[in-house]
Amino acid sequence: MCGIVGYVGQDQAAPILLEGLAKLEYRGYDSAGVAVYDGTSIQVVKSKGRLKVLSDKIHGGADMTGNIGIGHTRWATHGKPSDVNAHPHVSESGKFAIVHNGVIENYLELKSDLLEKGCHFVSETDTEVVAQLLDYNYKGNLLEAVIKTLKKIRGSYAFGIICKDWPDRIIGVRKESPLIVGLGKGENFIASDIPAILSHTREIYRLQENEIAVIQADGVTVYNMDQEVIEKTPDHINWDISAAEKCGYEHFMAKEIMEQPKAVHDTISPRIKNGRIVLDNITLTKEQLENISRIMIVACGSAYHVGVVAKYVFERFTHIPVEVDVASEFRYRDPIIDEHVLVLVISQSGETADTLAALREAKRLGARTISIVNVVGSSIANESDDVLYTWAGPEIAVATTKAYSTQLAVIYLLAIYIAEKMGVISEADYQYYISELQSLPDKIAETLDSKAHVRAVAEQFYQKKDVFFIGRNIDYAMSLEGSLKLKEISYIHSEAYAAGELKHGTISLIENGTLVIALATQKRLFEKMMSNIKEVKARGATVLGVTTYSNQQIEKEAEYVFYIPEICDMMLPSLAVIPLQMFAYNIANLKGCDIDKPRNLAKSVTVE
Ligand code: F6R
Repeated sequence: MCGIVGYVGQDQAAPILLEGLAKLEYRGYDSAGVAVYDGTSIQVVKSKGRLKVLSDKIHGGADMTGNIGIGHTRWATHGKPSDVNAHPHVSESGKFAIVHNGVIENYLELKSDLLEKGCHFVSETDTEVVAQLLDYNYKGNLLEAVIKTLKKIRGSYAFGIICKDWPDRIIGVRKESPLIVGLGKGENFIASDIPAILSHTREIYRLQENEIAVIQADGVTVYNMDQEVIEKTPDHINWDISAAEKCGYEHFMAKEIMEQPKAVHDTISPRIKNGRIVLDNITLTKEQLENISRIMIVACGSAYHVGVVAKYVFERFTHIPVEVDVASEFRYRDPIIDEHVLVLVISQSGETADTLAALREAKRLGARTISIVNVVGSSIANESDDVLYTWAGPEIAVATTKAYSTQLAVIYLLAIYIAEKMGVISEADYQYYISELQSLPDKIAETLDSKAHVRAVAEQFYQKKDVFFIGRNIDYAMSLEGSLKLKEISYIHSEAYAAGELKHGTISLIENGTLVIALATQKRLFEKMMSNIKEVKARGATVLGVTTYSNQQIEKEAEYVFYIPEICDMMLPSLAVIPLQMFAYNIANLKGCDIDKPRNLAKSVTVE
């Protein structure tokens, strides 16, 4: 959510800032801006709209000279998307320019203090307050002014700051929003995420909470809030650069859908050694596990949907009761949590504000915590007791696909692992489920082969206004994700219902031609689902079924079918999600939607 980039070195800053912002546009794309110090003053150019508007305005950066600058791509929180609300924000004297990701919670209070002191504001943003406060606190020592300002503000932030009096340095600082420092030769960078700087360097510092980096061309010094120097060890990023590129695909989402067999394989295979699941990062002992009375899963959006599948999976494998909650509800509902509760937090980015806050709340209440995270070194990964990384690689499309699939894979690994530790799974079942798990990448690849058929079906339905997804048990969990995928990128209204619940109200919305997508993958519930399909057909619905090859009787009722390969029932969601992702993608594509950057959304929601 909001992308920050900064450069200091020997080259012209503006083109480098634009190049970095292009890699971060998935984080927010309602406006963008850059500030470059030109030797005399800080020049700022900002534009409402996509980055291209800004880039055209400054001719790809050619119009701005200077070797130091900061840039920003915005997802609006305070103040509508507009030129004036876009970042960077500049203090009234023109001395400070600042880019910000996060929310300053006490900005109104700070703003009224500054107004009383005679400051004038031009934007509606919380960020401008910080620019003014920096200027107000500045008495010639930049670091002191930054620390004094940080002590006054409440909220979440990653800041990139430049000051006219110190034209050789950028200040980078973060709290609850990600920021990395890229270490080059004779040049250094800041960025919200690795893709922004990957073409320049693979050595990075990951800034921790309230660490303040002073970034100059020839070196970076990191301080704590007491102005003491912190020794940082660089991390080497070994991603293939193509991981952050489209590589010939029309959209990142299409590429990421097709990457799922590899992502799931990379997530599972290093953790199965000699036929046993080895989770080195899990330090929970058998005794500790036996003391767990409940598992609480907390997450947002699609990660929450993984949690809904996980409830069925954990209860089936471990016999431990499981509760699932969306993080934004969990954190304010006084949850009943103690040291006997295992809290499982799921987050692709590892930075989602509500999920992070929920994790902290769970820890405060004494729970043992495990996180499932895709971004190494992210806040959630750092703060949980144990972390299991998904090895999906960078996910750029706003709508998640491969991160979702790898999260599911980790759920299966963890559930089977816990069941074995607790002695509640037989050796034969243990071996069976491991081999089913190992078959997943190939079966996902086989499912992807149906893409032409999915496209043909999408062509029949892309003009629909409303769609309903129904399913029972884990198929209901899948319906939630299928429905979200469709609505978030195609803007078609869709709802997911537990199939047996539909007739308790919502069935009144079914009329002639309404599309109902019926997930009926599980054998033991197939007949029940057939009855539910008949119910909606009787009201005029057109039915698209999703099931396995062995349930071909579905064709008696469903006009269209997506078939998936057979696998044990708990792992069916990993296959059923594939045609649903492809369906959503194709519908959005046929409608001409901006698939990788759906309206109003952003990746990595670092504000509440
Ligand atoms: C939907 C989607 C979002 C995220 C949610 C949580 O396609 O991507 O619903 O799943 O914002 O994000 P993370 O997993 O980063 O915590």
